[in-house]
Amino acid sequence: MRHNLVIANWKLNGSIKLINSFANEWNSLTTANVQVVVCPPAIYLSAAKEQHPQMVLGAQVCSAYQEGAYTGELSAAMLHDVGAHYVLVGHSERRALFGETDEVVASKIAAAQQAKLIPVLCVGETASERSASLTEKVILQQLEKGLLQADLHRLVIAYEPVWAIGTGETASPQQAQEIHALIRGWVAQQDAAVAETIQLLYGGSVKPANAGELFQQKDIDGGLIGGASLDVEQFKAICTAAQER
Ligand code: PGA
Repeated sequence: MRHNLVIANWKLNGSIKLINSFANEWNSLTTANVQVVVCPPAIYLSAAKEQHPQMVLGAQVCSAYQEGAYTGELSAAMLHDVGAHYVLVGHSERRALFGETDEVVASKIAAAQQAKLIPVLCVGETASERSASLTEKVILQQLEKGLLQADLHRLVIAYEPVWAIGTGETASPQQAQEIHALIRGWVAQQDAAVAETIQLLYGGSVKPANAGELFQQKDIDGGLIGGASLDVEQFKAICTAAQER
């Protein structure tokens, strides 16, 4: 049986105050069948770990490099040191705004796994790729190239259609399920046993109102939540929807 996983991606938002409010609600967010991970800006990881050891934390990005003359970078090992257990890799904002190619994504996945972080690989098509019927091709290419050197046993994959991120437009549960089944099928071709256990998340304008129907889908094991993770009550409602799955 796969546990449900709900990840909060705060992006360039949040504060110590927001961390404290999540910590106060931690027991109502997590249950026996729902794991929760909070990815605040990395600067907050240390304080969150020290003050709230119950919280499970992730980073939003890591360097592909382990050490050296790379001004501004944070290595996967450093993030692990200050409390991260997970790291997002290949989020569409990183791909579109910070030039992360599939090759960079593959290096970051390798760096994360080497440092014992669990990478959350984000894949998804743009609106123009979807209207040109390229969705499946784009997703399969992102999986193949991004996971070239990956250990599939220690990995989460999130399907986030770019056109649904931060737009208020969500993939329908059927559209999302179709791509999740494609992803699970691809994983099964690599390793049938891993395909049964790997957690596949949906992301893109998940809100309390649509979470339930999305999480009911056979191959959707939870969500990667942006905007709605900045409000602990909304996030709690999404975690409750995951509990009911
Ligand atoms: P959103 O973001 O929930 O605000 O659409 C999701 C994400 O970017 O991970």
